[in-house]
Amino acid sequence: MKYSKYSAIIIGSGIAGMYAALKLEQQTHLADGILLITKSKLGESNSRYAQGGMVGVLKENKKDSTSSHISDTIKAGAGLSELNTVKFISENSDKVIKDLLNFGVEFDRDENNNFTFTLEAAHSVRRVLHSGGDATGRMIEEALAKKVSENANIDIYEDTVAVELLVNMANECKGVIVFNDITQEYEVIYSSAVVLATGGIGQLYKYTTNPSGATGDGMALAYFAGAVMQDMEFVQFHPTALAIDGDENRFLISEAVRGEGAKLVDSDGIEFMHKYHEKRELAPRDIVTRANYNEMLSQKADNVYLNATCIDSDKLAKRFPNISKKCLENGIDISKDFIPVAPAAHYMMGGIKTNIEGETSIRGLYAIGEAASTGLHGGNRLASNSLLECVVCAYEVANFLKTKELNPPKQIDVCIKDIIEKYSDEIYLEEIDVTEMKKSLKNIMWQGAGIFRSEETLKNALDAVDNLKMNFHRTAKCISKSEYEFRNMLAVAEMVIISALRRRESRGAHFRTDYLQTDEKSRHSILTKTSLYDIKKSLNSERAEDSLYN
Ligand code: FAD
Ligand code: SIN
Repeated sequence: MKYSKYSAIIIGSGIAGMYAALKLEQQTHLADGILLITKSKLGESNSRYAQGGMVGVLKENKKDSTSSHISDTIKAGAGLSELNTVKFISENSDKVIKDLLNFGVEFDRDENNNFTFTLEAAHSVRRVLHSGGDATGRMIEEALAKKVSENANIDIYEDTVAVELLVNMANECKGVIVFNDITQEYEVIYSSAVVLATGGIGQLYKYTTNPSGATGDGMALAYFAGAVMQDMEFVQFHPTALAIDGDENRFLISEAVRGEGAKLVDSDGIEFMHKYHEKRELAPRDIVTRANYNEMLSQKADNVYLNATCIDSDKLAKRFPNISKKCLENGIDISKDFIPVAPAAHYMMGGIKTNIEGETSIRGLYAIGEAASTGLHGGNRLASNSLLECVVCAYEVANFLKTKELNPPKQIDVCIKDIIEKYSDEIYLEEIDVTEMKKSLKNIMWQGAGIFRSEETLKNALDAVDNLKMNFHRTAKCISKSEYEFRNMLAVAEMVIISALRRRESRGAHFRTDYLQTDEKSRHSILTKTSLYDIKKSLNSERAEDSLYN
C-alpha cells in the first residue's frame, strides 16, 4: 500500500471538478498541493456530452433577468426547489460565466460579436449560451482540461478510482483510498479537504444518455461513510434520446432542437403534445417525457419521432452540426427525415445533501456538481441549469476552502486504520464477472424505478436488487474498476428505490401510478445508511406480517 498527502483532493474531472481545482489553485497557495483524481482520462465525463448549453443570466441580455430565471427554475422544480439556492445560483451566473471566459472558454456569438442565446423547454426567454453549436460540454471541458494540464500546482491521477473515504470517529473526512485501474495498486491519500465531483447515475438504467462512467460512485462513497443523502427518488429522464435498435447508451437529441421549432409526432406522423400541456414541446421536461412514453406505450411502439424538417436546413446544419452528423451516420437526414426518439435516464436531481459551499454532513467532505443535491433543481431540473450549478458551486467551494487551514491530518484514529485494513494487500479475491449482473440491474431499474413507478414495481425492484447483492457479495474491497462501479450502483439503486417507495405522491420526475396527486405538505426526502437499514427492516417485518395473515 502506498501513502501520500495533499492539502486538497478533488475527485472527478468533469466541469465541476476541473473548475474547482483551477479556482482553488488561483486563489490560494496550498503547501501540500492539489490532487485531481479521475477514474478514466482527464475530461471523460457527463460534462463532455452536454449539448444544449449553459444558462447565462447575463447583464447585457436586456430581455432577461434573474427574477425571470428564478421564477422559471422554481416552476419547473415542482415545489421542491430551495429559493435561497436558486437565487444565489442565478445571481452569480453573470460572474462565473465571465470568469470562464478568462480560462479560455468560448460561447457562440453572432456577426456583431454578441452572445447568441437559445431557447429550451420551460424557459420563458432565450438565455441558454452554447458553444460549437451543439457541443457546449466538449468545448468547455477541453478549455478547462488544457488549463488543468498546464498547471504545475495541480497533480493529476488518471485511471484512478476513489474507492472509500477515510472518515474518523469524530465524523471528519481525512482522505481517500484509491485504486489504480492500470497497475492494480492501492494508495491511501490523506487530506483534510476532499471534494466529490463525481457526477451522476445514468448507468443504473437500461436506456441512458450518460456515458459508461456515470455509476453514482461519489454518492455511494458518501453514503457508505454516513453522509446525509437527499431526494434520491428524483431521476430525470430526457424525452428525446436517439432510439436506434440495440443502442442502450443513447445519443441525445438536444431540447434546443425543439427550442428552434421541431415537433414531436407519433408513428403515424401526428402531433400529440397539445394533449399534454399548453406549452406543447416546450413544456417542462418531465411532462414531455411522460407524454412520449405514454404515446409509445399506447401505440406499442419503441419510439416516437421528432420532426425537425420545419427548420431551415442551413440553420439546422449550422446550429446542430453534431446531431446532424450522428443522425446521418445512422441514415437519417434531419432536414428531410423524422428522427426516432425515446426517453432515457439523463440526470440525478438528488444526491449528497450540501449547502451552496459544497459542505456535506461530514466535516472536510464536500460535494459539487451532479453528485450534490443543493436544492436548486427540486423535483425536475430546468434545462441547462446543471452546468451553471457546476460552475457556481465549484467557485464557491474554492472560495470557502481558501479560508480554511488545509493541513493533512497528523493523527489517524482506529476507525481509519480499520478502513485501510479492509483494502490490505493480504486480502485475496476471485474476480466476479459483473457484465450480466450490471445488465440485470439496469433492466430492474428501468422496469421498477423508471418513468412510471408504483409500490408493486418498486418492491419487486428492491427484491431483485437484494438478490443481486447476495450473488455479488462484496461490501468493501473489489478486484476491478468494473466491480467497484457495480458495488456502488447497487447501493445507489437501493437508495433510489427506498426513497421512491417512501414518497407517496407524484411530483416532478417522480411519478407514482398509485399516488397520482401531489401532496402539498411533503418536502425533501432524507436518507442515511442507518435510516435505510431501518426502513428495510420495517418493510420486511410488514411483509412477514402480511404473509402471516394472507
Ligand atoms: P461529470 O461531468 O459527470 O464528471 C464526473 C467525473 O468524476 C468524471 O471525470 C468521472 O470519471 C469521475 N469519477 C466518477 N466516479 C469516480 C471515482 N470513483 N473515482 C474517480 N473519479 C470518478 N446540462 C446542462 O446544464 N446543459 C446541457 O446542455 C446538458 N446536456 C447534457 C447532455 C448529455 C448527453 C448529458 C449526459 C448530460 C447533459 N447535461 C447538461 C447534464 C450535465 O452535463 C451534467 O450534469 C454535468 O456535466 C455534471 O458535471 P459534473 O462535473 O458534476 O460531473
Ligand atoms: C439538452 O441539450 O437537451 C440537454 C440540456 C440539459 O440537460 O440541460
